Amino acid sequence: MELEEHYAKLRAMNAEAELGGGLDRIEAQHAKGKLTARERIHKLLDPGTFEEFDKFVVHRCYEFGMEKKRILGDGVVTGYGKINGRPVFVFSQDFTVFGGSLSGPFGEKVCKIMDLAVKAGCPIIGLNDSGGARIQEGVVSLASYGDIFLRNVMCSGVIPQISAIMGPCAGGAVYSPALTDFILMVDKTSYLHITGPEVLKAVTHREVTSEELGGAKVHTQKSGVAHFVDPDDESCLRRIRELLSFLPQNWKEKPPRVEPTDDPEREDEALQTMVPANPKKPYDMKKLIRTVVDNGYFFEVHEHYAKNMIVGFARLNGQVVGIVANQPMHLAGCIDVDASLKCARFVRTCDCFNIPLVTFVDVPGFLPAIDQEERGIIKHGAKIIFAYSEATVPKVTVITRKAYGGAYDVMSSKHLRGDINYAYPTAEIAVMGPEGAVNIIFRKEIQSAEDPEKERERLVKEYRETIATPYRAASLGYIDEIIEPRQTRKKLIRALELLKDKEDVRPQRKHANIPL
Ligand code: HXC
Repeated sequence: MELEEHYAKLRAMNAEAELGGGLDRIEAQHAKGKLTARERIHKLLDPGTFEEFDKFVVHRCYEFGMEKKRILGDGVVTGYGKINGRPVFVFSQDFTVFGGSLSGPFGEKVCKIMDLAVKAGCPIIGLNDSGGARIQEGVVSLASYGDIFLRNVMCSGVIPQISAIMGPCAGGAVYSPALTDFILMVDKTSYLHITGPEVLKAVTHREVTSEELGGAKVHTQKSGVAHFVDPDDESCLRRIRELLSFLPQNWKEKPPRVEPTDDPEREDEALQTMVPANPKKPYDMKKLIRTVVDNGYFFEVHEHYAKNMIVGFARLNGQVVGIVANQPMHLAGCIDVDASLKCARFVRTCDCFNIPLVTFVDVPGFLPAIDQEERGIIKHGAKIIFAYSEATVPKVTVITRKAYGGAYDVMSSKHLRGDINYAYPTAEIAVMGPEGAVNIIFRKEIQSAEDPEKERERLVKEYRETIATPYRAASLGYIDEIIEPRQTRKKLIRALELLKDKEDVRPQRKHANIPL
C-alpha cells in the first residue's frame, strides 16, 4: 500500500466515525432541538482543543443481526480538551448510534477516560443522551453500568464530576449522574426517571409523560436531583464552563483566583438599612449577598429548589467562596427537610474542593410541621450539623437577624468549628423568639396580671432587649465581633485572607457515619 493510501484510509475512517449514526439521524437530532454529541463537545471546549480517544471502537454483539450493524465509536464520543485553558475529560453520548445506548465497549470507553481523569487530576464531564442499557447486550451492558458507578464513587471528592442531561436518561442509567457533584438539565428535551411512563402505567394505571415524571422542572424544583436548568443545549454547555471556573481541578488544589476589580475595602451604605428593624418584615437575602460579593455577581446553585435556603458561589477579592444563607422571603427562612439536604450537600461539596464557606444566618428555627417530622427532619437536619462540623475549609459566619434554637447551632456556629463569627446589631440570638419564650416562662404572671396583653408586650420587649440580642452571645465569645452591616465585605475579605492557609484535622477513623 502506498503511503498516501494509508493516510487516505485513516481519513476515511475518521470521517465515517464522525458521522455517527448517519445524516438522517443527525437531522432527526437537530429536529428535536438538540445538538449532536460532537457538536456539544465542540461548544463545551475551548476551540480546537478536543483530542478524541477510541474513535474506532465497535461493539462485540453478534445476536439479533447486530453483527451487520457496527458503527465506529459505538455511540459515545470520549476524550479530553480544555475549558478556559484548563484540561478536562469529557464523554458525550451519541443518540444517533443505537439511541446512545450503552454497550460493553461503550462502557469501557467511558471507564478509560474516568481512570485517566483521576490520574491526571482533572474534572470529568458527562453529556448524557441515551436510551439506557443496550438491550441486545443484556447483562454485559448492566456490568458496564456497574463499572461506571464504581468509578463515580471512587472519583467522588477526588475530581469534580459534572453531568449534563441532554436527552433521555432512564432506568438504572440515572445513577451515574446521581453520583456526581452537579447535574444540569436542558428544559423540555431531557428527562431522568427510574421507571418510565409505560411501567408506571402498567403498575399504577396512571398515565404520565416523561416530562411530568422526570423533566427538568420536577428535578430542579421538587426532587432536588438536578442543580440547574437551561433552555437549550448551548446555554447548558456555557453554564458548565462557568461552573468549572468556581472549582479546582482536583481535591489537592484550590479554585482558581481571578484578578479582582472590586475594592476589597468597599463599604456599602445600602446594607445599613437592608435588614428591616421590624423582625417580622422579610427582606431579600440574595440582595444582601450581591451587595457584599465581588461585582455583585452570585452564581446560584439549586436556585429553584428549597428556596428558604440559598446556596451558590461568588468571589470575594477574586477568591471563590461558597455562600450558604437562609432566605427570610420563603417560609420566613425556616429550615425544613429539603433545605437541610440542600445545605448539607453544598457544604460538603465546598469542603471536598477547598472552597471557603461564608454563611449568612437569619433563621427563626426548624419548620414546625407534622409532615416534616414524618419525613425525618431530625435525621436530615442532623446532616447540616455533620457537614459543618466535619468541614475543614475556612468558615466565616454573619448573623444578620434571627438565630434561634437548634437552628442557631447548625448554621456554622462557633460550636461547630466556625472560625470567625460576626453578628449585626440587629441579631436576635436565643433559644426561641421573644413571643414564644414569654408565653412559656411567664405564663402565670401574664394570666394574673391586671392587663394580660399589656404585661405580655412589656415582657416581650424586655426579653428582646436583654436576651434576644447579639450582646449576650458576644459577651460569651460565641460571636467574635458585632459589626455594622456596611462593613460586611471588608470584614469577610480580611477574615478569609487570614484563614487562607488554615489547617484543621478530623479524628482518625475509617469514615464518619453521616445520618442518611
Ligand atoms: C438498543 C436502542 C435503545 C436501547 C433506543 N434504541 N434505545 N437500542 N438499546 N436501549 C435505538 C432504537 O432502536 C432506534 O434505533 C434508535 O435507538 C432511536 O430510538 P427511537 O425509539 O427511534 O427514538 P425515540 O422515539 O426518540 O425514543 C427514545 C427512547 C426509546 C424513549 C429512549 O428509544 C426507548 O424507550 N428506548 C428504550 C429505553 C429502555 O427501556 N432502555 C432500557 C432501560 S433499563 P433505529 O435503528 O430504529 O434508529 C436500563 C437499565 C440500566 O437502562 C441499568 C443500569 C444498572
